[in-house]
Amino acid sequence: MPADPRREPVAVFISGTGSNMAALLYASRMEPCPYEIALVASNNPAAPGLALAAAEGVPTFALSHRGLTRHEHDAAMGKAAERHGARWIALAGYMRVLGSAFVDAWAGRILNIHPSLLPLYKGLDTHARALAAGDREAGCSVHLVTAELDDGEVIAQARVAVLPGDTADSLARRVLIAEHQLYPRALARFVGTARAEGC
Ligand code: GAR
Repeated sequence: MPADPRREPVAVFISGTGSNMAALLYASRMEPCPYEIALVASNNPAAPGLALAAAEGVPTFALSHRGLTRHEHDAAMGKAAERHGARWIALAGYMRVLGSAFVDAWAGRILNIHPSLLPLYKGLDTHARALAAGDREAGCSVHLVTAELDDGEVIAQARVAVLPGDTADSLARRVLIAEHQLYPRALARFVGTARAEGC
């Protein structure tokens, strides 16, 4: 499908299920939306989200990181994004740390969704850590990606209650629903604002 010049092209990087990618994709098909998904790319050729994207007619790219340096893998992912005309990258369950060369090349144009209320619980096992700390609320954050893990400016957050009897799995499911609502809105607002400002 030819790129729509009225919309900002986004490459979505995934590693697994891709439910956030799907939320971004389906939201992009609602009018008006200032972005479109130009590519779904993965370091995991078996990622279920790749098959979903392909079934929805979205171009896909897969390259395992195994046997490649971080720099080589990042560069190949970035080239794929460029080939498909992407101006933005949305990380959606992309379980790879991006090297500083890649982050510098796309500075200010990479967003990530993280399943915690940053700056709390950077890294993995966010829900188990929130429960162990006795937190009464949890949530998710959309942030700009920098070379430091889960450390860039937070542009949007959503909160959910921690309920009695919650496990890490039940909390993760509730937070994931919030992620699906938050990420499309945050991405649309961010790229829409940048476009309006002529960035
Ligand atoms: C989501 O919960 C996302 O926030 C998290 O992985 C899950 C991916 O689910 N990302 C991270 O933990 C990144 N540090 P999905 O593949 O169904 O979108």
